[in-house]
Amino acid sequence: MGVVIIGTGKSLPELKVDNTHLSKMVETDNQWIIDRTGIESRHIATKETGLDLAVNSAKEAMGDLDRNSIGLVIVATVSPDMLVPSMGALVKRAMNLENAIAYDLNAACSGFIYGIWNAEALMKTHGIKRALVIGVERLSRITNWEDRGTCIIFGDGAGSAVLELKDDKTGIISSFIKNYDDISNSLTADMQYLKTPFADDEPKEQFLHMNGPQVFRFAVGAIGEAMDIVLQKAGITANDVKYYVPHQANMRIIQSAAQRMKQPIEKFQVNIQTTGNVSAASIPMALADLMKSGKVNSGDIIMMVGFGGGLSAGAILFEAV
Ligand SMILES: CC(C)(COP(=O)(O)OP(=O)(O)OC[C@H]1O[C@@H](n2cnc3c(N)ncnc32)[C@H](O)[C@@H]1OP(=O)(O)O)[C@@H](O)C(=O)NCCC(=O)NCCS
Repeated sequence: MGVVIIGTGKSLPELKVDNTHLSKMVETDNQWIIDRTGIESRHIATKETGLDLAVNSAKEAMGDLDRNSIGLVIVATVSPDMLVPSMGALVKRAMNLENAIAYDLNAACSGFIYGIWNAEALMKTHGIKRALVIGVERLSRITNWEDRGTCIIFGDGAGSAVLELKDDKTGIISSFIKNYDDISNSLTADMQYLKTPFADDEPKEQFLHMNGPQVFRFAVGAIGEAMDIVLQKAGITANDVKYYVPHQANMRIIQSAAQRMKQPIEKFQVNIQTTGNVSAASIPMALADLMKSGKVNSGDIIMMVGFGGGLSAGAILFEAV
């Protein structure tokens, strides 16, 4: 019995903001951003809600599948439209997913990997036939647009995958997730709570703060560890993997992962140029691009690998159907 990915989808907001636009807002320039990150532009939500993006990507992933067959919805996000109801509950309502248990999960940029890991376990334990795992972010709402160290990196969007429990397929071959304590608070975003009459703490701004070089060093190590361990667990080598779908945080991190695994960069699905880092949505959006590219054949082994705040990291190896 295995859990297979039977559909993928993605959705981006209409507005595209290029590096030149940002160089009018903060002291930076197009070439610096391209050289240091690989990013040329990103999409920013103006009229789209996170729910719009999540539902559009989920509809694309579902196609004409029976909506009543979805038993589970997991939405990975650090930037939900609201705290209650959860994005999962909102998606369930908006898509009339009558039979779904729905909730949110926050594992920052590793969120989609954690979501798939959760879904696989629950599907196998509880006999859930189909699940929808979504990564969605409106990071533009928690970005400090005056901080050139972060505002050049992040974007908005959503990606989805439909998972199915099958008796006769392998689907997910192996998985690995891990948390590392962020002892120096290298990647944080506060909650913007109101002041209460009972506590002295001052309200904080809900901005993403990042020590770029520190996160970079963590990312290179964590992505390597995650890749090595899922391969070991599956008893295969990097050469057996047809395509890699990495978190899209920095082109140099993706290149270092390719070098470490001694794999050509062409095996890595990269869309960071036009999306930036969309946290939990990055991997499912890149996966949707790969699956729609026509390159993937049934039986191909694909690795998704990510890292992020928390700190967190993980990887999933699966066989395409
Ligand atoms: C953010 C990041 C692109 C910065 O690149 P970097 O090479 O590490 O650059 P540094 O932060 O060391 O800064 C180098 C210089 O560029 C400057 N700089 C920073 N941002 C800049 C920008 N947008 N434009 C121009 N210059 C910039 C710095 O002020 C610094 O100048 P100084 O040498 O005069 O002090 C890079 O660290 C990174 O991508 N880190 C990982 C981030 C990540 O993956 N986050 C997501 C986790 S899920």
